[in-house]
Amino acid sequence: MKKAVVYTSTTGNTEAMAKAVAVGVQSSGAELVFGTPGTVSADEVLSCDVIILGSPAMGDEEVEEEMEGFYTSIEAGLSGKKVAVFGSYDWGDGQWLRSWTERIAAAGAAVVSKDGLAGHLEPDAECTAQCESLGKTA
Ligand SMILES: Cc1cc2nc3c(=O)[nH]c(=O)nc-3n(C[C@H](O)[C@H](O)[C@H](O)COP(=O)(O)O)c2cc1C
Repeated sequence: MKKAVVYTSTTGNTEAMAKAVAVGVQSSGAELVFGTPGTVSADEVLSCDVIILGSPAMGDEEVEEEMEGFYTSIEAGLSGKKVAVFGSYDWGDGQWLRSWTERIAAAGAAVVSKDGLAGHLEPDAECTAQCESLGKTA
């Protein structure tokens, strides 16, 4: 089993969540592909059974720009994959993750949770535990 965790983060909050997700992946015994769109390739990520993507809420409830570009580059290869999303937000209600999982489902992937895993600003202990659990069980 191979799991990818790919994220972007502007101030470190989604990055902290990504690191906790990676801890969970490693505790599950799966092989981990971990990084940002600048450090992992689309092919490497699409070679994984499970793909876990992280982006903060940006714009007006949108996926962050660099992740949007990376997501677009892998979207056509997501059919049949298990995909989860997570990320940090501030004032919204998690709409950016719900819109994202709709696109992922439309691409033919099995979405782990329709709502994704949204963490408010810097992840607290509860959010960190949820991230670890996502990495372990996804
Ligand atoms: C330009 C900009 C746009 C943002 N748009 C939203 C938004 O639409 N909804 C929301 O809940 N938070 C929004 N935020 C807040 C960020 O999602 C929040 O600060 C988050 O913790 C950033 O995570 P990061 O450190 O991983 O980049 C925005 C922040 C910035 C700077």
